Amino acid sequence: MLAPPMALLLELTHRCPLACPYCSNPLQLAGMKQEMDTAGWREVIRQAAEMGVLQIHFSGGEPTLRKDLPELIAYTRELGLYSNLITSGVAADEAALDHLLACGLDHVQLSIQDATAEGADHISGYRNSLQKKSRFAEWLKAREVPSTLNAVIHRQNIHNLPAMIDLAMAWGVGRLEVAHTQYYGWGLRNRAALMPTREQLEQATAIVLAARDRHHGELVIDYVTPDYYARRPKPCMAGWARRFMNITPTGEVLPCHAAETIPGLVFDNVRQRSLADIWNQGQAFLKFRGTEWMPEPCQSCPKKELDWGGCRCQALALSGRADTLDPVCERSPDHERIQALAEQEAAQGDDAFVYRRPEKVVEDV
Ligand code: FES
Repeated sequence: MLAPPMALLLELTHRCPLACPYCSNPLQLAGMKQEMDTAGWREVIRQAAEMGVLQIHFSGGEPTLRKDLPELIAYTRELGLYSNLITSGVAADEAALDHLLACGLDHVQLSIQDATAEGADHISGYRNSLQKKSRFAEWLKAREVPSTLNAVIHRQNIHNLPAMIDLAMAWGVGRLEVAHTQYYGWGLRNRAALMPTREQLEQATAIVLAARDRHHGELVIDYVTPDYYARRPKPCMAGWARRFMNITPTGEVLPCHAAETIPGLVFDNVRQRSLADIWNQGQAFLKFRGTEWMPEPCQSCPKKELDWGGCRCQALALSGRADTLDPVCERSPDHERIQALAEQEAAQGDDAFVYRRPEKVVEDV
C-alpha cells in the first residue's frame, strides 16, 4: 500500500504584493476569480486528514490575502493537522496575526529578500518591505511563535549573508533557511541576473558553516546549495510523488510546484477527483514515481533511491527532456555545459530583473 504524502502545500492564491524575480509561481498566474472557494479548500483539508497527511503548508502568492485563511487554519487544527504559514509578512497586521494564532496556527515561515532596506526593496519590487517584515518578526518574537526565516540568496544579495544571519538572531527565530535560488519559472527567466560566481558560493558556504558553530544551540541553519555548481543532483521534493502534493489556486494537484512546465503530464483537479485517487493513480504522479522510469546510467546507479534521479523540471529546462538525467549530475552529458553556463552568466550576466508584476495576473483563462 502506498504511504500517504507527508505534507500538502496549498497555494491559496497567486496574488502577492511582492514581485520577486525568482518567484516559484508559474509564469501564467491564476486570477482571483479563478481561485478555489472556502468550501473547496476545506474539502481538500478534510480529505488530507482522511488520507493521513500530517502537515498543511499555507502558501501563495501571499496567503494572508485570503480572507478565509483563519477559517482554514482553524479547520486544520480541528482535524489535528500541523499548520505552517509561508508569508512575506508585509500584508497582515498585528490583529490579523493574533487571529491566526488564536485559530491554532502552529508555525510561521517568514521570507526576507535582503538584510538592507534598499536591497530588499530592489529585489522584492516593493517599498519598505524590510521595515514591514521587521515589524512582523517582532510580533512573532513577542508571542514566541515557532518561526523559520527564509532567505533566498543570489549574486545580488549574497554579500549580505552575514547580516541576514544577524537578523535571524535578532528576531529570535529558531531556524534560518539559506537557500540559493532555484531556477524554474521566474527564476529561470532571471537566471543571468541571479547566478552567483563560484567564489561567492564558496564564501557563502564558509559563512554558513562558521555561523552554525557560532550559534550552535540557538539557531539551526539549513543550507540549500545551488544546483548548477553541484556534482550530484538533489532529491527534489524528496523524490517525485513520494512525500508531497502541491495544490494550485484553481485546485490542480501537482507533484511539484514547477510540474506544469512539463509537457504531456495530465493534472487532475481536486474539484473533480479525490485527493487519494490522484495521489495513488493520477497520471502526473505515476509518471516519475519510483525508479522504473529512469534511463541508464540512473538505473544502475547505487544512489538512485537517494537522489531519485534529481529534478525532472530541471532536466527539462536544461536538457530539453523531463525523462533524462538531471544535468546537475556529473554523469549527464550536459553537466560540463551547465557548469560553464553558470560561470559565464555569473561573470557576464546583466543585473536587470524581469519582475513578477501583479498586473501579469490572468483574470479569465
Ligand atoms: Fe519539479 Fe524538481 S521542481 S521535480
